[in-house]
Amino acid sequence: MNKIDEKSLENAKRLFASNDINSIEIGTVKGLKQIHKYLFDGLYDFAGQIRKKNISKGNFRFANTLYLEDILKKIETMKENTLDDIINKYVEMNIAHPFLEGNGRVMRIWLDLILKKRLNKIVNWQNIDKKLYLQAMERSPINTLEIKTLIENNLTDDFSLDTFFKGVETSYYYETEDY
Ligand SMILES: Nc1ncnc2c1ncn2[C@@H]1O[C@H](COP(=O)(O)OP(=O)(O)O)[C@@H](O)[C@H]1O
Ligand SMILES: [Mg+2]
Repeated sequence: MNKIDEKSLENAKRLFASNDINSIEIGTVKGLKQIHKYLFDGLYDFAGQIRKKNISKGNFRFANTLYLEDILKKIETMKENTLDDIINKYVEMNIAHPFLEGNGRVMRIWLDLILKKRLNKIVNWQNIDKKLYLQAMERSPINTLEIKTLIENNLTDDFSLDTFFKGVETSYYYETEDY
């Protein structure tokens, strides 16, 4: 892991170890920006800021900056009643990909906050294989079945600090290098 990622991982752990996690707005764009700022403050000059450049990964182009702000407003209003609703919202946010870098790590925390609030569960990331997760996310703009199955089978109601720490460690491990 490079220095930026190491420092950012420390920030992510501090977010949970301190009371700061309670000041994050849940399920909104504001909350997503708050998490991004927290994780990457002083590390990226765009910490907490929506991108102004178009980006892609593999063959997939994330939302065009022309429509990004409007899309984000719509995603914010998506319902969060069931696991299905929540994953749909998460998948749409991934398609939007509002930041230049850090979307994966920030959105996994954002997702856990929604799941905890609505279903009293979080994802047990340490049990989800990196390759399976990334394949499911690559597939998700076309079909959400894989990511839904993967997450549904790996939920936990263990909210210990250790589970959150292992979760963020796994989340950072997902992003360490291309597979
Ligand atoms: N081809 C793809 N299509 C859609 N989403 C993808 C694709 N490849 C990766 N992703 C998603 O994008 C995330 C990585 O986005 P990125 O902004 O680089 O975040 P981070 O810096 O935290 O790695 C992955 O965790 C995955 O959820
Ligand atoms: Mg990345």
